[in-house]
Amino acid sequence: MAGTRLPRLETLVLLAMGAVLVGSQSSTNRIPSLVTGQLTYFTVPENAPIGSSIFQISATDQDGDHLTFKTATDETTSLVNIQNVVNQGTVSTCKITLKIELDCDNSPRSRFLYFIIADNVYEIRIKITMIITDVNDNPPSFVALPYITSIPEDQAVNSVIFTVLASDPDTGLGGNIKYSFKSDQADYNAKFDLDPISGNITLKTSLDYEERSFYHLKISSMDEGSPSCPSPQCICKATPEVCKAEPVDLFITILDVEDTPPVFEGLPYIGTVSEDKPEGFLILRVIASDGDRGVAVPNNVYFTISGGKR
Ligand SMILES: *[C@@H]1O[C@H](CO)[C@@H](O)[C@H](O)[C@H]1NC(C)=O
Repeated sequence: MAGTRLPRLETLVLLAMGAVLVGSQSSTNRIPSLVTGQLTYFTVPENAPIGSSIFQISATDQDGDHLTFKTATDETTSLVNIQNVVNQGTVSTCKITLKIELDCDNSPRSRFLYFIIADNVYEIRIKITMIITDVNDNPPSFVALPYITSIPEDQAVNSVIFTVLASDPDTGLGGNIKYSFKSDQADYNAKFDLDPISGNITLKTSLDYEERSFYHLKISSMDEGSPSCPSPQCICKATPEVCKAEPVDLFITILDVEDTPPVFEGLPYIGTVSEDKPEGFLILRVIASDGDRGVAVPNNVYFTISGGKR
């Protein structure tokens, strides 16, 4: 009896084990999930190099299945690669690397990335938000060039004669612009003042057309990013010409106004006449012209005798 019962028991045990194996492969397989504390957003500077590792996703599978990671949309596939999938115990981790150059000055500041995480049976779709942070990578550039103006020589001192303007697409201090005169024009700097914030140029001392009728100022702009642009340290991504951001010219023509008396020509005048000349005899001709050489229509000059005996 005993010899016949033992094989039956072994068969029962084997049958039971088989049922457990079948069960673990089908009905009890559990769905993978992100690990607790896995962030679903991250920031990346817009100048992050192509190929750099920008994020890490960790998922878990309670059955200890090896998980696979895939990009789930065309946009995600165009932006990032998945690398270095590591399966360790019940946790699987992958690295996300950057596939293209980012830019947040002219494109959206955040992008949605979609991934599929799968075990042998189930897959889950997850969304990760990539926030692109600004880098000071643009120098300011002057707008509405060329800068040409003309002002009358009697322009009021302390009045605004011109305003320069530059724009900078960077945010924060990298978009704050300061204006300045080029330093090697001290004589002009004594005549004009440039407000570094507003770009207003004011007249500091009175003008005189007869002394100087034209000014040529050179004006620079720089942002306050760190490092600031333009500077040799600026992480500039534009063309070399834009990155250098040379000073711009401001040409100021001074207009003459009627403020100068007439001047005699051919001085001194000495006339002689013999006493027997009749009345009306021409002794001397005096010539004078308007002192305002720059006016379109010079003033008429009138003569009077103001001293001596007639
Ligand atoms: C700049 O000049 C304009 C007028 O041209 C004036 O309205 C403005 O207040 C000035 N700004 C500063 C800071 O002086």
